[in-house]
Amino acid sequence: MPSSTNSRPARKAVIPVAGMGTRFLPATKAVPKELLPVVDRPALQYIVEESARAGLGEVLMVTGRGKAAIEDFFDRTPELEAALEKKGDQARIDAVAESTDVAQVHFVRQGEAKGLGHAVLQAASFVGDEPFAVLLGDDLIDARDLLLEQMLAVQAEHGGCVIALLDVGADNIDKYGCVAIDDAPQTDAGEGDQVVRITGMVEKPPRDEAPSSLAIIGRYVLAPEIFDAIRATPPGRGGEIQLTDALLKLVEDGVPVHGVVFSGRRYDTGDKLDYLKAVIRLAVERDDLGPALRPWLRDFVGDLAPEGASQA
Ligand code: G1P
Repeated sequence: MPSSTNSRPARKAVIPVAGMGTRFLPATKAVPKELLPVVDRPALQYIVEESARAGLGEVLMVTGRGKAAIEDFFDRTPELEAALEKKGDQARIDAVAESTDVAQVHFVRQGEAKGLGHAVLQAASFVGDEPFAVLLGDDLIDARDLLLEQMLAVQAEHGGCVIALLDVGADNIDKYGCVAIDDAPQTDAGEGDQVVRITGMVEKPPRDEAPSSLAIIGRYVLAPEIFDAIRATPPGRGGEIQLTDALLKLVEDGVPVHGVVFSGRRYDTGDKLDYLKAVIRLAVERDDLGPALRPWLRDFVGDLAPEGASQA
């Protein structure tokens, strides 16, 4: 497969949202996990805002059964807006409009849940023959950190694909896709982040087989060659068609695949404990909530009995 030249800049983003959200049952019986509020906005709204901020205002969501509420969320709500208008509640009118006006959101159904690679493949006709981004909903990147912008710049310079990486330590690497990198000197992507060349990848390896402690976090800028690579990728880990396996195929075919090692603020909303931490961290930083929450949190933590001691 020829190495991609991709002189065109990426303009579109794909957000897979078909996952079942089993870690948040029973809430996710009726509410898609992507709509669970992180403070007062669905996790998914942060992701769409991040995409739009980076210049990717055309967004395709790959949905599945039970996700109709996501389409409603990104639709206009004239009745609600009229009711708020009557009350003269401009702040809430703006909040509602923000969620719909931020990007042009399109939907496609995955049909069968056959893995992340399969989900991305559903975007082939939407994307066409240009590079595009994939953003996964479980990873929130702080709005002050320009990870996606940096990745787009690296893709524009080198072509091929660019993946966001985070050093999660050897003890946690088995929860992620993991990469091997070459030992060429690393270049600076800005804001302290490094650009590395990826030489190998493996999806959720056992800890003692992981080639590094660098994990794939949920941001990718992909060349359109990825679609043929996915089509040629058999089911892998968990019987699913893995994006990681398709990317490895591109590496082996000589397509440049780079990583940006992120050193900024990432909030994981993928499981219950991390979700709680994300809500607290984001709320503490908010101008409207932080000033009241911070002193309360200090008191609360001060009152907590040390680990192992019994509560009075
Ligand atoms: C997916 C990818 C994995 C990546 C992770 C990041 O896994 O397959 O390579 O490390 O997202 O969040 P999932 O979390 O969907 O199992």
